[in-house]
Amino acid sequence: MSNQVRLKVVEIRNETADVKTFVLRPESGPLAYDAGQSMTLLLPVDGRTLLRTFSIASAPGRGDTIAMTIKAHPQGVVTRWMHRHLSIGDMIEGQAPRGRFRIADRRTGRLALISAGSGASPLMAMLRHLADTAVDTDVFWLHWARTPADILFAGELAELQNAHSRLKVAIAVTQASPGWFGFIGRPSRQLLAAAAPDLGRREVYCCGPTGFMDEMRLIHAAEGGDRDQFHIEHFGAVAEPVADPSRQSTASFTVQFRGRTFGVRGDETILAAATRQNIVIPCGCASGICGTCRVKLVAGDVAMRHNGGISAEDEAARYILACSSRPVSDIVIEVSN
Ligand SMILES: Cc1cc2nc3c(=O)[nH]c(=O)nc-3n(C[C@H](O)[C@H](O)[C@H](O)COP(=O)(O)OP(=O)(O)OC[C@H]3O[C@@H](n4cnc5c(N)ncnc54)[C@H](O)[C@@H]3O)c2cc1C
Ligand code: FES
Repeated sequence: MSNQVRLKVVEIRNETADVKTFVLRPESGPLAYDAGQSMTLLLPVDGRTLLRTFSIASAPGRGDTIAMTIKAHPQGVVTRWMHRHLSIGDMIEGQAPRGRFRIADRRTGRLALISAGSGASPLMAMLRHLADTAVDTDVFWLHWARTPADILFAGELAELQNAHSRLKVAIAVTQASPGWFGFIGRPSRQLLAAAAPDLGRREVYCCGPTGFMDEMRLIHAAEGGDRDQFHIEHFGAVAEPVADPSRQSTASFTVQFRGRTFGVRGDETILAAATRQNIVIPCGCASGICGTCRVKLVAGDVAMRHNGGISAEDEAARYILACSSRPVSDIVIEVSN
């Protein structure tokens, strides 16, 4: 694959009990990316190569490494493997950075960077980048953690806040411990009103579980926020969509791929339908970000809604992302080169 890079693990930092930062040095020199973008890694887990997408937490242009801050998901195959087995000196493969969640696209100078859990990672890249390049930006950082011990980047945030008068940091926890003086509780309009009374006048970058981001979007809109100024990054997608054999539904259209023909229900993507038939289309994010599931559309038409995982040139050449496309006619697809 032409966009593949080899990365050497040069440092591993413990952030919290279940989050580590992996610092990686690309063999081919510094990578070009925008703060907020992500990369898909190809990881050798128990004899298989598994693909997972992670945000880059480091700021672009700061040296020749990138950092990824990764939570070991309790049942996670790849993230638990990374925490246990990935060591300094190891070489891994990755795909070039991608994604539309980019601070470079902001329209205003009044920002709110809002996260929950490891969703802080792409926002930290943005904050670090702003600290390097646009110190006058008015930034409000709001982060939810489960407990005070789970707060990510606490020391660095305190330093940044001391150095930049236009940065305001607020942290909320859902389970406080003795001595905690920050916000306590789940996201709510009341809590937001206390923490960020001018939220509706800020452009928001938000990353966390889907329900959390939905709640934030509603609150931002209720406070008068412009919906075009609310940007989100989804982490929650399961890399290989799980088939649910109990769901009975008539296929709306058919897909021909690698000599097989299968049906796609009106409500599912080509990737989900293929997975239901045990047909493997490689997948790194299931969110239209990483480009891993790109296939060529040979016949028919699809409706595609992606998140930056495919270029305009590729779209014009009838490539599509299987995870982000729903057929609107019978289609024929083939593996992309
Ligand atoms: C654009 C993008 C950027 C991302 N950036 C980061 C990052 O910076 N740091 C980070 O830690 N992760 C990030 N993720 C999530 C990451 O790609 C993995 O999905 C996640 O870490 C779990 O991988 P796994 O192989 O360990 O779990 P899997 O083996 O894939 O899943 C195990 C179980 O956990 C559930 N699950 C998987 N992922 C999640 C999730 N995120 N939330 C809730 N349940 C889940 C699944 O339903 C499944 O039941 C990002 C994802 C995307 C799409
Ligand atoms: S799997 Fe990442 S874009 Fe489809």
